[in-house]
Amino acid sequence: MLSRVDYIRQSLETHLFLGRIMKEHSFFLQTAFTPRDDKFIKHADDLRLAFGELLEDCTALANGVISREAAASGEIITQYTLEAEKLTEFYTGISLNTKITQAEKGLAPGNDFTPLLERRVFAINRRALSLLDDIIQFKTTILNDVLCCKMFTLNYPLLLDHILREAKLYRRLIQRLQSREQINILREAFEQEAFWNQIMAEHAYFIRGLLDPTEEELFNTANRFGHEFDKLTCESKEAMDRAMPADLSRVTRESLQATKGIRDFKAQGTQGLLECKIKSIIIPLLADHTLREANHFLKLLKIFQNLR
Ligand SMILES: [Fe+2]
Ligand SMILES: [Fe+2]
Repeated sequence: MLSRVDYIRQSLETHLFLGRIMKEHSFFLQTAFTPRDDKFIKHADDLRLAFGELLEDCTALANGVISREAAASGEIITQYTLEAEKLTEFYTGISLNTKITQAEKGLAPGNDFTPLLERRVFAINRRALSLLDDIIQFKTTILNDVLCCKMFTLNYPLLLDHILREAKLYRRLIQRLQSREQINILREAFEQEAFWNQIMAEHAYFIRGLLDPTEEELFNTANRFGHEFDKLTCESKEAMDRAMPADLSRVTRESLQATKGIRDFKAQGTQGLLECKIKSIIIPLLADHTLREANHFLKLLKIFQNLR
């Protein structure tokens, strides 16, 4: 049985990271439809606002509650998030509620746990699960329509599949917290390493595919990261299938090295986009979004490494 402290902290930290991710997925969906699909645009906009409200409420509850690791990880916001949001607002005319980002800048770690907070978190988790059912259904429909050529969007089919998997992970984590299940951290390490190595590979390929064709050097670097993380995905799946902690230990070490590399690449890329130094069709918020996911994976890898 999960303790009250762990239940509150893990729930809020999950929302601060993945609630924002869902808000942004909704935005990426919203801006990639053709004018024909105005109902889909509206649905994506509604989801974006609803996840924004969830994130705002979680931010208000999370001050003085989150861990030092989460606060310092760069998974909640990065040094670029606010600027990336402002430039993305400028490009699209869509307001991203940067007030939330400002509030998140002030989030402090601490141990301020109360029974009232526990009840509030329980309600927030239920709200998140209902929103997640909605967004999972929505992404599934879009992906299926695109795959059978009933719909055209500017998002790659692989990106639709990718953001669907991230939503399903979020739902699985919250469902588990709601049932107060204690996490088997070793089993979790096996599963999550394979999951996030694949996510990192796909980010590299999205970046590769969204760069201007003249950005050859960046294209080649992205391509190399893609292949490196494909290899790590296979290795972490093998370690998982064989249930070999010794193999996993090596894969964790290698994944940590590779993820530091792609984190730096994404940080430079985000900065380059903000400074108008890279030619691409990457919206700045997408670059920062993938940077936060790398920061999250790094946080997990450090936890997994300390287990051994
Ligand atoms: Fe994502
Ligand atoms: Fe992602």
